Amino acid sequence: MISHLALSSDEDRLQQLRHWLLFAVSALAIAGAFALLAVLTRTPAVQLLHSAEGLHRAIAGHVTFSLLVWLLAFETVLWILAAAPARRSTRSSWSLALAVIGSGLLIVAVLSGRGAAVLTDYVSVVVDPLFFAGLAIVALGVGLVAWSAVASVSGRRTLLQHGMQSAAVIGVLALAACSVALLRLGAAGRLHGDFVFFQSLFWMTGHLLQFVNVVAMVSAWYLLLGIGFGVEVRDGRLPRLAFTGYVILAGLLFVSTLPLDPRALPANLRLSVLMGIAAALPTLVHVGAVMRAIARRPRGWSSPEGAALLCSVTLFVGGIALGLARAQTGSSMWIPAHYHAVVVGGVTMAFMGLTHGLLVRTGKIAWPRLATLQPWLYGVGMLLVVVGMNWAGGEGAPRKTFDPALGAAAARWVTPMNVMGVGGVIAVLGGAIFVVNALLSLATATDREDADATVVPINTALLRSRIR
Ligand code: HEM
Repeated sequence: MISHLALSSDEDRLQQLRHWLLFAVSALAIAGAFALLAVLTRTPAVQLLHSAEGLHRAIAGHVTFSLLVWLLAFETVLWILAAAPARRSTRSSWSLALAVIGSGLLIVAVLSGRGAAVLTDYVSVVVDPLFFAGLAIVALGVGLVAWSAVASVSGRRTLLQHGMQSAAVIGVLALAACSVALLRLGAAGRLHGDFVFFQSLFWMTGHLLQFVNVVAMVSAWYLLLGIGFGVEVRDGRLPRLAFTGYVILAGLLFVSTLPLDPRALPANLRLSVLMGIAAALPTLVHVGAVMRAIARRPRGWSSPEGAALLCSVTLFVGGIALGLARAQTGSSMWIPAHYHAVVVGGVTMAFMGLTHGLLVRTGKIAWPRLATLQPWLYGVGMLLVVVGMNWAGGEGAPRKTFDPALGAAAARWVTPMNVMGVGGVIAVLGGAIFVVNALLSLATATDREDADATVVPINTALLRSRIR
C-alpha cells in the first residue's frame, strides 16, 4: 500500500509543487501580518491602530490574502498533485508568475492608501483598478493550472482526482455567478463602486468558493489519513458520491438564484443557511469515513499530519454547529467566529498538515520538533479566537468595527474581545512557526540526494492508484 513517490518521473511536477507551496505559504504570511494588525486593534487592552480606516485596510488585506490568495494557492498545489503524472507543462511556471504579479498589485493597492476599503462578505475590496487587476490576474494564474490538471486526467480517477475535479467544476460555477451578477447589475444601471454593489457582485461567488474550500479540505483529509495514520478509506464509493453531491447541490443553488436580483441575495437568510447546509451535508459523510478509518489505527495523532487532521475535523464540525445555532441571531461577531472555526480551524489547518507531509516527503523539515507542536498551538489559539469572538457577539459586538468609535457601548464586550486577543496572538505565533519552518524547509532541501536520504514512505496509492 505504501511506497515512495516516483520522484524521477515527476521532477517537473515536484518543482511546480514546491514553487506553488512557497507562494501559498508566503501569502499566508502576509495574511497573518494583517491578522495581527486587525486582532490587536480589536483587542481593548491593546488597540494597536488608531483609525477606522487603518483597521478596515488591515481587514481587507487579511481577508484577501487569507480567504482568496492563500486558499486558492494551496488548492493549486492539490490540483498539481491530482494531475496525471509526468505531464510536461510550462503552463505552471507562467501561471505562478501571473499569481505572483497579481498578488503584488493587491498588496500595493492595500498598503498604498489608494481607493477606499469596502468590507463586503467573502471578498473584501479596495476600490482601485490595481486591486481588481490583481484579483483577476491571480484568478487567471490559478485557473490555468486547475484547467490543465483536470484536462490531464483520463479514465478512472483516484479519490483525490475526483475531489479536485469537483472543486474545479464548482470554481467555474463561482466565476459564472460573478459574471451573471455583473451583467444583471449592469443591466439595472447599478455599477456604482459602493458596498451594495460589491456585496451583490461577490455574494454568490463567495458562497460557491466556500464549497471549493471545503471540497479541497476534504481531499486533503484523505491524504492526511494516509500520511498521518497510514490508512485509507476502505470503500471509496460513498466518498465519491459525497464529492459529486457537492457539485449537484452547488449547481442547484446556483441555478435557483439565476432568476433572482443579485441585490436581494445577501439579505436572504434562508438562502445563506441553505448554502451552509448544502456544504455541510456531504462533509458529514466524509467526516464519518475519516473517523472510521482513524478508528482502525488511532495512534497516528502524535504526528503533525495526524494532529492537523484531528484538529481540522473537530474545529470544522464545531464551526458548522456554531453557524447553525446562531444563524437566526442577526449580524455580530459570531459570524467571524463561525468563519474562523470553519476556514481557519478546518480548511487552513488541513492545508498546514498536508504542507508538512509534502515537505517531509519531497525534502526535509527544518524544525521537526516544533512541527509537532505547531498544530496544537494554532488549534488552541484559534479556539480562543472563536470563543472570544462568539462571546463578544453574544454581548452585541459588531463585525469589522473600530470599537473606540462606539464609546461606552463597547464596554460590554471588553473581556471577550481580550480573550480573542490572547487567542489571536497564540494563533499568530502558531502560524509564524508554520510559515518559518516551511520557508526554511523549502529553502534548505534543494539537493535531491539529500532529500532522498530523508524521504519517508508516502501513501502514493492514494495519490495515484484507484480506491478499491
Ligand atoms: C492567526 C490567525 C488569524 C487571526 C488572529 C485572525 C483574526 C481576524 C480578525 C481580528 C478579524 C476581524 C474581525 C472583525 O473585526 O469583524 C478577521 C476577519 C476575517 N478573517 Fe481572520 N484571522 C486569522 C486567520 C484567518 C485565516 C487563515 C482566514 C482564511 C483562510 C481568515 C479569514 C477571515 C475572514 C473571512 C474575515 C472577515 C470576517 C467577516 O466578514 O466578518 N482569518 N480575522
